[in-house]
Amino acid sequence: MRIVAPSILSADFGNLERDIKMVDRSAAEWVHIDVMDGLFVPNISFGFPVMKPVRKATTKVLDVHLMIVEPEKYVKRFVEAGADYVTFHHEACADPRATIAEIKAAGAKAGVSIKPATSAEEIFDYLAELDMVLVMSVEPGFGGQSFMPDSLDKVRALRKEIDEKEYDCLIEIDGGISAKNAREVFDAGVDVVVAGSSVFGTENPEEAIVNILNA
Ligand code: DX5
Ligand code: ZN
Repeated sequence: MRIVAPSILSADFGNLERDIKMVDRSAAEWVHIDVMDGLFVPNISFGFPVMKPVRKATTKVLDVHLMIVEPEKYVKRFVEAGADYVTFHHEACADPRATIAEIKAAGAKAGVSIKPATSAEEIFDYLAELDMVLVMSVEPGFGGQSFMPDSLDKVRALRKEIDEKEYDCLIEIDGGISAKNAREVFDAGVDVVVAGSSVFGTENPEEAIVNILNA
């Protein structure tokens, strides 16, 4: 499976509807939405008010990536705001199992993300409960950073565990992905790639999406 999730962190917020409609017409099946609180990461992006116009402008899968502390306090509201997937950080959550259950009870799919310093094995004990694992291939907080190649070992370890145990769990990767490295990333076992600057930072974003899918 190959899915591209353009990250609206790199979109033009003065023309957000235009940019979302571009994704809606494109070969991308998902839209990636980065929520940052200035505590879990050293940057602040946006929150609930941005969900509404995005949900209105597209029928694509809304993939919300929460880079916030105490995500359990907010997951339900993100589902109510239209999220199809809600992903929170393992490092930010005291009780991942309860938070996963809460996302599912609210009617969305549940994901957990791990930062570059967190090993894949740290989430193995609750991997069975997840719909998705998001491997960060940069330090979370900013778009436009360089891809960290070590993240592929983590992807391979997760792929092996998911396949051996026959879990129904997608692997997503986020940070520094473009048509140049997408093939390597998909070959390592990734299902969904997030792409921010390599889509919205180009002259022809729709073509950039196709190039990632066909890499
Ligand atoms: C970074 C965010 C990413 C970011 C990716 O913390 O989670 O989703 O938008 O941007 P690029 O694709 O430019 O690395
Ligand atoms: Zn992200």
